[in-house]
Amino acid sequence: MAMACKADARVSLDAQADVAAAMELMHCASLVHDDLPCFDDAPLRRGRPSVHAAFGEELAVLAGDGLIILAYEVIAETNLPPSAVPKLIRCISRGVGAGGGLVAGQAWESERSVGLQTYHQAKTGALFEAGARAGAILAGAPQEPWAKFGAHLGEAYQVADDLRDALGDARELGKPVGQDIAHNRPNACISLGVDGAVNRLRALLDRAIDTIPACPEPDRVVDWVDSFAGRLYAGASKSKAPRPMASQSQAANEPVAINLRA
Ligand code: FPP
Ligand code: MG
Repeated sequence: MAMACKADARVSLDAQADVAAAMELMHCASLVHDDLPCFDDAPLRRGRPSVHAAFGEELAVLAGDGLIILAYEVIAETNLPPSAVPKLIRCISRGVGAGGGLVAGQAWESERSVGLQTYHQAKTGALFEAGARAGAILAGAPQEPWAKFGAHLGEAYQVADDLRDALGDARELGKPVGQDIAHNRPNACISLGVDGAVNRLRALLDRAIDTIPACPEPDRVVDWVDSFAGRLYAGASKSKAPRPMASQSQAANEPVAINLRA
């Protein structure tokens, strides 16, 4: 995004990469914690034992904590215009935090019911939105138009992830599948059916393209969305046969009853 907007001349490519790395560190922290026994209890991540499976629960909690702190340290240490730093810290904190970021999304899993879209927007959309805002900040461009674009992409990513969870193969994906059904969580395939979920994925990607804000190099963003979409479809269509779905269907944002954890 920063490149498409032609980043502020004071922001080097290395600094842009550092900001992207900080977002990635937050994402990794969330996955380390998400795999813990108190959440998904997943033994596998990216084809390897999850952190708690390899090193124990205590070290996995601390590894996640350490990654969060490292994300902020990377922002503090990279060479950015001073005015960009508080803006980036605010945008990352909002994308991750309890007020609507991915912490809020995870917390929805402990509530009695939640709408699919509300859940997806917090759990994944908010971090994508933060990434798009960060690009705008680095370019000195207005954040709001990019926020919308990022939110659509994030929702699309989560719909594709729901498809992979419902249809994919654990060995190919390098992580457990069938988790949403097992934990009775909202999943686009349960709400909309498999075809409905694929249509929703397509609609969200179209919407993302339609909301690309005016910028010096929009084609760069379109190309990037195309390749991102290719990866989402490839992952979502590596299906054999759908696993059995819950019998009742969940409407798009109708609250869905979910299991309370003990
Ligand atoms: C993966 O979802 C998990 C998330 C998108 C967010 C997890 C958030 C937390 C654990 C809150 C703590 C946050 C931080 C920053 C430490 P998934 O289980 O549907 O996907 P998966 O199949 O890849 O596990
Ligand atoms: Mg998980």
